[in-house]
Amino acid sequence: MLELGAGLGLPSLAAALRGADVLATDWAEDAVTLLRVNAARNRVELRAACVRWDEPEQLYAGAPWDVVLGADLLYEQRNADALLALLPRLGGEILLAEPGRPFAGRFLAHWDVEEVAERVYRLR
Ligand SMILES: C[S@@+](CC[C@H](N)C(=O)[O-])C[C@H]1O[C@@H](n2cnc3c(N)ncnc32)[C@H](O)[C@@H]1O
Repeated sequence: MLELGAGLGLPSLAAALRGADVLATDWAEDAVTLLRVNAARNRVELRAACVRWDEPEQLYAGAPWDVVLGADLLYEQRNADALLALLPRLGGEILLAEPGRPFAGRFLAHWDVEEVAERVYRLR
Protein backbone atom coordinates (compact mmCIF):
# COMPACT_ATOMS: atom_id res chain seq x y z
CA MET A 1 0.00 0.00 0.00
CA LEU A 2 0.94 3.65 -0.45
CA GLU A 3 0.49 6.53 1.97
CA LEU A 4 0.55 10.09 0.62
CA GLY A 5 1.46 13.06 2.84
CA ALA A 6 2.28 10.61 5.59
CA GLY A 7 3.81 13.05 8.09
CA LEU A 8 4.42 10.94 11.19
CA GLY A 9 2.89 8.05 9.26
CA LEU A 10 0.71 6.43 11.89
CA PRO A 11 -1.54 4.73 9.28
CA SER A 12 1.56 3.34 7.56
CA LEU A 13 2.99 2.07 10.84
CA ALA A 14 -0.32 0.43 11.75
CA ALA A 15 -0.68 -1.16 8.30
CA ALA A 16 2.91 -2.45 8.36
CA LEU A 17 2.36 -3.93 11.82
CA ARG A 18 -0.61 -5.81 10.33
CA GLY A 19 1.61 -7.21 7.58
CA ALA A 20 1.14 -4.76 4.71
CA ASP A 21 3.97 -3.97 2.30
CA VAL A 22 4.07 -0.19 2.79
CA LEU A 23 5.57 2.79 1.00
CA ALA A 24 5.00 5.93 3.10
CA THR A 25 5.68 9.21 1.29
CA ASP A 26 5.90 12.89 2.07
CA TRP A 27 7.73 15.83 0.56
CA ALA A 28 9.12 16.88 3.96
CA GLU A 29 12.52 15.24 4.50
CA ASP A 30 12.31 15.67 8.27
CA ALA A 31 9.03 13.78 8.39
CA VAL A 32 10.37 10.92 6.28
CA THR A 33 13.53 10.68 8.41
CA LEU A 34 11.53 10.65 11.63
CA LEU A 35 9.19 7.99 10.26
CA ARG A 36 12.15 5.77 9.33
CA VAL A 37 13.67 6.19 12.80
CA ASN A 38 10.34 5.56 14.50
CA ALA A 39 9.73 2.43 12.42
CA ALA A 40 13.23 1.09 13.10
CA ARG A 41 12.98 1.74 16.86
CA ASN A 42 9.74 -0.20 16.95
CA ARG A 43 10.98 -2.94 14.62
CA VAL A 44 8.35 -2.09 12.01
CA GLU A 45 9.36 -2.84 8.42
CA LEU A 46 8.27 -0.25 5.88
CA ARG A 47 9.72 1.88 3.13
CA ALA A 48 9.58 5.66 3.40
CA ALA A 49 10.48 8.10 0.65
CA CYS A 50 10.49 11.82 -0.13
CA VAL A 51 8.02 12.23 -2.98
CA ARG A 52 6.16 15.36 -4.10
CA TRP A 53 2.74 15.08 -5.69
CA ASP A 54 3.93 17.16 -8.65
CA GLU A 55 6.87 14.79 -9.23
CA PRO A 56 5.07 11.46 -8.90
CA GLU A 57 7.21 9.13 -11.04
CA GLN A 58 8.01 6.89 -8.05
CA LEU A 59 4.31 6.68 -7.23
CA TYR A 60 3.41 5.73 -10.80
CA ALA A 61 6.19 3.15 -10.86
CA GLY A 62 4.44 1.22 -8.08
CA ALA A 63 0.95 1.52 -9.55
CA PRO A 64 -1.56 0.04 -9.43
CA TRP A 65 -1.41 0.12 -5.63
CA ASP A 66 -3.81 -2.17 -3.75
CA VAL A 67 -4.57 0.60 -1.25
CA VAL A 68 -3.78 4.32 -1.19
CA LEU A 69 -4.10 6.08 2.18
CA GLY A 70 -4.14 9.78 2.98
CA ALA A 71 -4.94 11.68 6.18
CA ASP A 72 -5.65 15.40 6.50
CA LEU A 73 -4.31 16.42 3.10
CA LEU A 74 -6.87 19.01 1.97
CA TYR A 75 -5.77 22.07 3.95
CA GLU A 76 -4.87 24.04 0.80
CA GLN A 77 -6.69 24.28 -2.54
CA ARG A 78 -3.45 23.44 -4.36
CA ASN A 79 -3.38 20.12 -2.47
CA ALA A 80 -6.90 19.31 -3.61
CA ASP A 81 -5.96 20.18 -7.22
CA ALA A 82 -2.80 18.06 -7.12
CA LEU A 83 -4.57 15.07 -5.60
CA LEU A 84 -7.43 15.24 -8.11
CA ALA A 85 -4.84 14.81 -10.87
CA LEU A 86 -2.77 12.20 -9.04
CA LEU A 87 -5.13 9.80 -7.30
CA PRO A 88 -6.93 8.41 -10.39
CA ARG A 89 -3.53 7.31 -11.75
CA LEU A 90 -2.52 5.35 -8.66
CA GLY A 91 -5.22 2.68 -8.84
CA GLY A 92 -6.59 0.57 -6.03
CA GLU A 93 -8.75 1.43 -3.08
CA ILE A 94 -8.41 5.05 -1.96
CA LEU A 95 -9.07 5.78 1.71
CA LEU A 96 -8.98 9.38 2.89
CA ALA A 97 -9.25 10.55 6.49
CA GLU A 98 -10.59 14.10 6.29
CA PRO A 99 -11.19 16.13 9.46
CA GLY A 100 -13.31 18.84 7.83
CA ARG A 101 -10.87 21.13 6.05
CA PRO A 102 -12.48 23.96 4.03
CA PHE A 103 -11.24 22.60 0.69
CA ALA A 104 -12.62 19.11 1.28
CA GLY A 105 -16.18 19.70 0.09
CA ARG A 106 -15.32 20.62 -3.48
CA PHE A 107 -12.72 17.85 -3.64
CA LEU A 108 -15.11 15.16 -2.42
CA ALA A 109 -17.77 16.28 -4.93
CA HIS A 110 -15.55 14.81 -7.68
CA TRP A 111 -15.85 11.29 -6.25
CA ASP A 112 -18.33 8.61 -5.41
CA VAL A 113 -17.80 8.79 -1.63
CA GLU A 114 -18.57 6.17 1.00
CA GLU A 115 -17.93 7.01 4.68
CA VAL A 116 -16.42 3.78 6.04
CA ALA A 117 -15.63 5.13 9.53
CA GLU A 118 -16.06 8.51 11.19
CA ARG A 119 -14.53 11.01 8.72
CA VAL A 120 -12.80 8.24 6.78
CA TYR A 121 -13.94 8.07 3.17
CA ARG A 122 -13.54 5.48 0.43
CA LEU A 123 -13.26 7.32 -2.90
CA ARG A 124 -14.21 5.85 -6.27
C1 LIG B 1 -1.67 18.17 7.65
S1 LIG B 1 -0.28 17.13 7.35
C2 LIG B 1 -0.97 15.52 7.67
C3 LIG B 1 0.10 14.54 8.05
C4 LIG B 1 -0.41 13.14 8.44
N1 LIG B 1 -1.04 12.51 7.28
C5 LIG B 1 -1.37 13.25 9.60
O1 LIG B 1 -2.58 13.04 9.41
O2 LIG B 1 -0.91 13.52 10.71
C6 LIG B 1 -0.16 17.09 5.55
C7 LIG B 1 1.09 16.39 5.05
O3 LIG B 1 1.10 16.42 3.63
C8 LIG B 1 2.43 16.74 3.18
N2 LIG B 1 2.31 17.38 1.86
C9 LIG B 1 1.70 18.54 1.57
N3 LIG B 1 1.80 18.85 0.29
C10 LIG B 1 2.53 17.84 -0.27
C11 LIG B 1 2.99 17.58 -1.61
N4 LIG B 1 2.72 18.44 -2.62
N5 LIG B 1 3.68 16.46 -1.84
C12 LIG B 1 3.95 15.58 -0.84
N6 LIG B 1 3.54 15.78 0.46
C13 LIG B 1 2.85 16.90 0.72
C14 LIG B 1 2.97 17.65 4.28
O4 LIG B 1 4.39 17.68 4.29
C15 LIG B 1 2.38 17.03 5.54
O5 LIG B 1 3.20 16.04 6.11
